[in-house]
Amino acid sequence: MQQAVRIAPSILSADFARLGEEVREVDRAGADWIHIDVMDGHFVPNITIGPDVIRALRPHSDLPFDVHLMIAPTDPYLEAFAEAGADIITTHVEASAHINRTVQHIKSLGKKAGVALNPGTPAQAIQPMLGDIDLVLVMTVNPGFGGQAFIPGQLDKIRELRARIDASGRTIDLEVDGGINKMLAPKAIAAGADALVAGSATFSGSDYGENIAALRGALSTAGRAAAFSG
Ligand code: DX5
Ligand code: ZN
Repeated sequence: MQQAVRIAPSILSADFARLGEEVREVDRAGADWIHIDVMDGHFVPNITIGPDVIRALRPHSDLPFDVHLMIAPTDPYLEAFAEAGADIITTHVEASAHINRTVQHIKSLGKKAGVALNPGTPAQAIQPMLGDIDLVLVMTVNPGFGGQAFIPGQLDKIRELRARIDASGRTIDLEVDGGINKMLAPKAIAAGADALVAGSATFSGSDYGENIAALRGALSTAGRAAAFSG
């Protein structure tokens, strides 16, 4: 079942010199989750932050920390991310030869387990894990950088994932990550997403509240249009 839409600002687009303050600001501005992109310069062509930065940010917000691991290997670091304060730990199917073991490991740490799919990976890759996972993350850009353009072909994959999740009968978040803005948000939601990562769309200008409200406003406009036309 599609749930109420959650907005997850990606701090990749925040001012890294003022990261604690930036997290407090998006918390105050109405974010639902804080999306934290961890990159290793090996699985993806960029290097960002590790568990120590997440631990330092933890006191700045009570919102769930949605930690997106773009690292390989993943397993040796799961405990460190759990202890640092992650609430959701998402790992890429492409990063692990033993994704089921990785998911079980995350669950054993008492955290929600997510599985991410790169644009080139088909929806069916999550099928064997639907009984265990709490979240599916669909990459709508190639992972590595904020501010890239949404890949429209991924909308079909979002639809297929929604159908697979609904058929499972379990509550699994369907999160879309990459290139989301107020024009594309309604399309992702109409395709079945119920959590939206928004990096550059949140951290632009000075009024993050207005940016988050614009994303939510775009959704309710889309919802009203659908109601009136249907
Ligand atoms: C890309 C990251 C995304 C990215 C989203 O590899 O996983 O979370 O920061 O940024 P925008 O919303 O700017 O595409
Ligand atoms: Zn991400």
